[in-house]
Amino acid sequence: MEYLLGIDLGTSGTKTVLFDREGNAVASAAKEYPMYQPKNGWAEQDADDWWHAARDTVASVLESSGVDARDIKGLGISGQMHGLVLMDEKGNSLCRSLIWCDGRTQAECDEITRAVGAERLIEIAANPALTGFTAGKVLWVRKHQPDVWKKAKYILLPKDYVRYKLTDVIAQEISDASGTNLLDVKRRCWSEEICRAIDLDMSMLPPLVESCEAAGYVTEEAAKITGLCPGIPVAGGGGDNMCAAVGTGVVVPGKAFTTIGTSGVVYAHSPQAQIEPKGRVHAFCSCIPGEYVNFACTLSSGLSLKWFRDQFCQAEIQAAREMGQDAYALMNEEAALSPIGANRLLFLPYLMGERSPLMDNNARGAFIGLTAMHNRRDMLRALMEGVIYALCQNLNTMREMGVKPQAMLACGGGAKSHFWRQMMADVFGIPVKTVESTEGPALGAAILAGVAAGIYKDVPSACQLLVRENEVLSPIEENSKAYAPYYEFFLQLYPALKECYAKLAQL
Ligand code: XUL
Repeated sequence: MEYLLGIDLGTSGTKTVLFDREGNAVASAAKEYPMYQPKNGWAEQDADDWWHAARDTVASVLESSGVDARDIKGLGISGQMHGLVLMDEKGNSLCRSLIWCDGRTQAECDEITRAVGAERLIEIAANPALTGFTAGKVLWVRKHQPDVWKKAKYILLPKDYVRYKLTDVIAQEISDASGTNLLDVKRRCWSEEICRAIDLDMSMLPPLVESCEAAGYVTEEAAKITGLCPGIPVAGGGGDNMCAAVGTGVVVPGKAFTTIGTSGVVYAHSPQAQIEPKGRVHAFCSCIPGEYVNFACTLSSGLSLKWFRDQFCQAEIQAAREMGQDAYALMNEEAALSPIGANRLLFLPYLMGERSPLMDNNARGAFIGLTAMHNRRDMLRALMEGVIYALCQNLNTMREMGVKPQAMLACGGGAKSHFWRQMMADVFGIPVKTVESTEGPALGAAILAGVAAGIYKDVPSACQLLVRENEVLSPIEENSKAYAPYYEFFLQLYPALKECYAKLAQL
């Protein structure tokens, strides 16, 4: 029997899953780590937490599965995107990574835009300079932490650092590199022009690899600490959204998915690079050589619900523990007891500022319409509705670009909720499906490993073989009608608050 390993390096933790060659999950292990928020709007993680979580979960999957390590033919990593890992010449990460939802770098992004020219930057990098992306973080560390910067030899992204620890090969992978603002996305190479404009030494940018090629092989040392066999191929892997696309079969035109993970993403595959002139929708390289994707990213999707759970749902957490259930399942049941519109309560899910389509780091979360009659279940429902409205706003921006999916695949932790998926179908106005495997990004990474190891011919044919679609939820007309005025009202709230948010940031 042949097996493949997929590592899903996320924001709340890392999950490693062992798959057989038919795509069935055989064993899995997960490990959580903290996200540090030393200031309002900042978000950092420790790169060695990622490495240790990957190392430990691989070891524990090997042990619990009882699978002979010699039968594992390859490994792939899906990674949270954009986080800056600065590595010294000995291969050590030099400081905490500024991650994808860190919003501190507006001044640096403005500097990049001025240096390259707004239009030219979008022409080359296919995206404007965004605080979530990596280049602004590079300039921030250069300016604010000169001692760290002096020692920095390489710029890596989260999963590239973990891959380096496994293989000793320093490389960046192309789908993830698209989110740095430093890649010439159409030509799939580093942009000399951008690096020159911002005075960045190109030797800090490692060689690029495609997602489904072997970027390196597990070293003797990594084999010793994980239990893997030395010499197995480690694929380039991909950004978590691109890997989720592979794991849900969204690798052909016309297909789209929506993730409710920590972030929320509306994503569609495209054979060519389609650039949205205002940069509200990202254009990135896909995990398929020569092909592209468009997606829009909201920063606090599942993050909003997790925040609410941790701050206000101790009772559910306790009850769930006693019943051997998931606290989110109980929270769903409660939210469903509140009516559509949550008794005229709305939630703006901007807990980390907002990226698509607002591009405003100063935006902040809000409950609007709160009265003494509201209770926690109304707040929960309003929160879940706000998350879906923000995703729908992004879907509608993509529809304006001509991306008009006839159905939506739902993935990420939030897609486990039938209640949230039905809400998505009702608000989006299209059927919402899931795929059988709930391991989207990990399965995607394993498929990439399978292609790199020569087990599958290419990504699309592997997806056809392994990805099976599941239950379809159709929009319920009556619900769609009931949500419509609330969605329209939701759209008016950010413009009304925009100036207040800017003032709040100055207080
Ligand atoms: C995508 C993005 C997020 C992270 C989260 O641009 O910033 O989806 O990849 O893991």
